[in-house]
Amino acid sequence: MAAANTGNLDVHSGHQVYTPRLLRWYDLIVHGVSNRWFWSCPTQLLEAWFDEHATNNHLDIGVGTGFFPDRCSVFSPDARIGLLDANPNCLAAAAKRLKRFQPETFEANLAEPFTQLKEPFTSVSLMYVLHCLPGDVAFRARVIQHASSVLAADGKLFGATILGQPQPTSWLGRQVMDSYNRKGIFGNQHDSLSALREVLEVSLADVEIEQVGSVAMFAGRKNC
Ligand SMILES: C[S@@+](CC[C@H](N)C(=O)[O-])C[C@H]1O[C@@H](n2cnc3c(N)ncnc32)[C@H](O)[C@@H]1O
Repeated sequence: MAAANTGNLDVHSGHQVYTPRLLRWYDLIVHGVSNRWFWSCPTQLLEAWFDEHATNNHLDIGVGTGFFPDRCSVFSPDARIGLLDANPNCLAAAAKRLKRFQPETFEANLAEPFTQLKEPFTSVSLMYVLHCLPGDVAFRARVIQHASSVLAADGKLFGATILGQPQPTSWLGRQVMDSYNRKGIFGNQHDSLSALREVLEVSLADVEIEQVGSVAMFAGRKNC
C-alpha cells in the first residue's frame, strides 16, 4: 500500500458544506430521498446496522444532524455518547438533538490523529463519512486508524459509505454523484468494495461488509 499523503488533499470541502440552513434539510434530502432513489439502499437498513453494532459507550464520528444516534433503540438513558466532527454547525445540531444524553463533543478533523479523546469508547460509528473524504486507499486507511485509536480493546468500529465503483444503477444517482464529486462534497470516484476491505483490514479484525445498492455497510473489531 502506498504511503498516505494529505499534503495537497482538500480535507475541508467535505465538511464545510454543512451550513445551519443545509442541516435543516439534511435528513429529508439524504435519509428521506437520496438513500432510496439515488443509492438504492433504504434508510431502515442503515438504522438496523447502527442498532446492531452500537453500545452504551459510543462515539459517533461525522455527526451531521445526529440522525442515527437519535433514532438508535439500544442506548439506555445513561449511555455515554461522544460526538466528533470537523464542522461546529454539525456538532451543535447533533448535541442539541441528543441533549438527553449530555453528549461529549469533540471538534476534530479525521485527517489528523485525535488528541482530545482520553477515555476509550466500546463502539465508534462512521456513518456516511468516508465518501465525503478525498484521497486514496492509503489516506482512508489512515482515517480508519485515527477512528479506531479511540476504541477500547475489543471495541467495534462500524459505519456505512457510498461506493463510487461500480457507479449507481440509476441515471439520476450517477448525475448526483458526479456533481458531488466535482464540488468536493464527495471524494468517492475510486471507492470500491475491495478497496474498502483493504482499508478496513489495516486496523480492524473480523471485518464484515454488506452491500445494498451503492451503499457498503461495514464493521470490524479493533486489531489489538
Ligand atoms: C454526509 S454527513 C453524515 C452525517 C451523519 N453521520 C448521517 O449519516 O446522517 C458527513 C459528516 O461528516 C463530517 N465530516 C466530513 N469530513 C470530515 C473530516 N475530514 N473530519 C471530520 N468530520 C468530517 C461532516 O461535517 C458531516 O457531519
